[in-house]
Amino acid sequence: MLAVTEVETDIEEILVTTEAISQKVQDLGKQITNDYQGKNLVLLGVLKGSFLFMADIARAIHLPLQIEFIQASSYGSNVFSSGEVKVFLNPDFNIKGKDILIIEDIIDAGLTLKALKEEMVRHNAASVKTCAFLEKQTSRRTIDISAEYVGFTIPDKFVVGYGLDYDQKYRNLSYVGVLKPSIYTKE
Ligand code: IMP
Ligand code: MG
Repeated sequence: MLAVTEVETDIEEILVTTEAISQKVQDLGKQITNDYQGKNLVLLGVLKGSFLFMADIARAIHLPLQIEFIQASSYGSNVFSSGEVKVFLNPDFNIKGKDILIIEDIIDAGLTLKALKEEMVRHNAASVKTCAFLEKQTSRRTIDISAEYVGFTIPDKFVVGYGLDYDQKYRNLSYVGVLKPSIYTKE
């Protein structure tokens, strides 16, 4: 295991601070609490990147709700999307009639989100919306897809922390940082 201090020397720049994250989570939680009064709210976290955002946003929403997770992968250990999205659904999760709010770590090309939304619609969800912690400004988003709730819009840089990884590491940082390119170009 790498010590956190060792991990932190791999960060070039902090993009979103811990304090900014907690403030934003409270704001989003208030909006969602207002918007989902009387609904069958299900927070559907996309593993593994959303795990910290899910834990925080769930506690900022003051409504009865259900928590589910889904696994989707399009990256492997590369920094560019492979273009192919695999979705693994829990067979015990009954989607029909539920108001699904997808909790995503980041929207990059948007392919993961597109695949997930289609899957929810196919299973007759009552509504499907998305709350993305980060949205990247990128020319790779060739499809017309966006999130109804967005934490922060960030430039087109590879970031880690607050759930986001590079090669399964750095998820435990409490802020979002830009990874030094030397980390992923040295292999
Ligand atoms: P998309 O299908 O290209 O939108 O990719 C979304 C997924 O790619 C996210 O859920 C992340 O797991 C991963 N991803 C995209 N950009 C980054 C990044 O800058 N850092 C870490 N993971 C990323
Ligand atoms: Mg990832």
